Amino acid sequence: MKKTGLLLSLLFVAKASCFTVSAQDTPAWAKETRDRKEQRMAWWTHDRFGMFIHWGIYALPARHEWVKRNEKISDEAYQRYFERFDPDLYDPKEWAAKAKAAGMKYVVVTTKHHDGFCLWDSKYTDFKVTNTPYGKDLIKPLVDAFRSEGLRIGFYYSLIDWHHPDFPYDRLHPNGPSDPEARKTANERRDLKTYRQYMKNQLTELLTQFGAIDELFLDFSYPGENGKGHQEWDSEGLLKLIRQLQPNILVDNRLDLDHTDWGWDFVTPEQFMPQEWPVVRGQRVPWETCQTFSGSWGYYRDEYTWKSVHQLVVMLIEITSKGGNLLLNVGPTARGVFDDRANERLAGIGKWMYYHHRSIYGCTQAPDNFKVPQNCLLTYNPSAKRLYVHVLEWPFKSLHLPGYEGRFKYAQLLNDGSEIRFHTQTQAGSHTTENSREDDVILSLPVERPNVDVPVIELFLE
Ligand code: GLC
Repeated sequence: MKKTGLLLSLLFVAKASCFTVSAQDTPAWAKETRDRKEQRMAWWTHDRFGMFIHWGIYALPARHEWVKRNEKISDEAYQRYFERFDPDLYDPKEWAAKAKAAGMKYVVVTTKHHDGFCLWDSKYTDFKVTNTPYGKDLIKPLVDAFRSEGLRIGFYYSLIDWHHPDFPYDRLHPNGPSDPEARKTANERRDLKTYRQYMKNQLTELLTQFGAIDELFLDFSYPGENGKGHQEWDSEGLLKLIRQLQPNILVDNRLDLDHTDWGWDFVTPEQFMPQEWPVVRGQRVPWETCQTFSGSWGYYRDEYTWKSVHQLVVMLIEITSKGGNLLLNVGPTARGVFDDRANERLAGIGKWMYYHHRSIYGCTQAPDNFKVPQNCLLTYNPSAKRLYVHVLEWPFKSLHLPGYEGRFKYAQLLNDGSEIRFHTQTQAGSHTTENSREDDVILSLPVERPNVDVPVIELFLE
């Protein structure tokens, strides 16, 4: 008895101290129930598909938004783009209409990228659009245009700043001495505290002057030797401010707070396709992958590795099939328009989405007990109770659904709502009878593949 009592009280102490530790871990302002977080994220997990926009004076050199770093361009030399930035064809209403027609439900626009150039009229810097020949704020008209098309608004804000005089030189900085000693001396004249306050001031502008901001994409941390992470940024302080100003906002995980459960809302795999739904500490987490049409985020004239419409449509399906979001990037030109290659992709995706958005919005990964048929990707709408079979390679006549017997009551092609008949294989004998497992269902497909990028079959589940 005594022993059990001791054991129980030990367990109790252990549990209590465990609890205290994790409770202390989460700052009071960051505490939130799981339900509340789910509510906050509900629109986003429903919408699945957004437009990323990378725009700034790097559209003039037109060879990557990292051109300042890649070519080690000095502030003085970079100024020639600032002095000529004049996007005379800028019409955000046209951008918004294109995003909407592509089936995108939200936009995330660069308000400041690593080069430090600001697209709004920030009162904390001169390095901003209102001082270029264009002379006008770019962000407010964009916010208004996208909002009036019914899209939600996200801001990208670079933590990195290669223009600010108090941003210490580090391993990514394009300028500054490369010799470690000389860099150290140069950094003595750079005051990180001032830069931190600059970020807070600018984020306050962005989060108070443009109405409700739905997503904030902070970019990015590179902790360790000669880098910057949560301590340098004061990530906790930044996030606290952000949450105070916009309690419903969704924040990415690039503040270097991945070791906490409260320092981010979603993870952001970039430029690759996760093999499965990303997991953090054993739990599937919300995720949004950002992708480019070609290899660059900013407009890159001579970049030719463009993905096809088909690849992009499959990408969107695959991401949804793993419970994630796609943030697909456009890099507008220095004149302020999307180039033909981007327009063609957006229109192509839009054509597919027009008929098939039902297999994307509100959908997620199918329950594990639905096997994925050959050459297919599945998505699933839990509230409508429908399963979507995306047929990547159109088979001849029959599509086998392994183990689906008795699990759905009706099937149709999504693009035209035409019935797909189905049967299970029971009779044996004739040479025209297909072999299949007993609990398989065989869909009878038309021989001709529907004339859409990826045909989808909608199953109404039991
Ligand atoms: C990377 C790059 C940047 C781009 C971003 C998009 O962090 O530094 O140029 O804006 O990815 O997620």
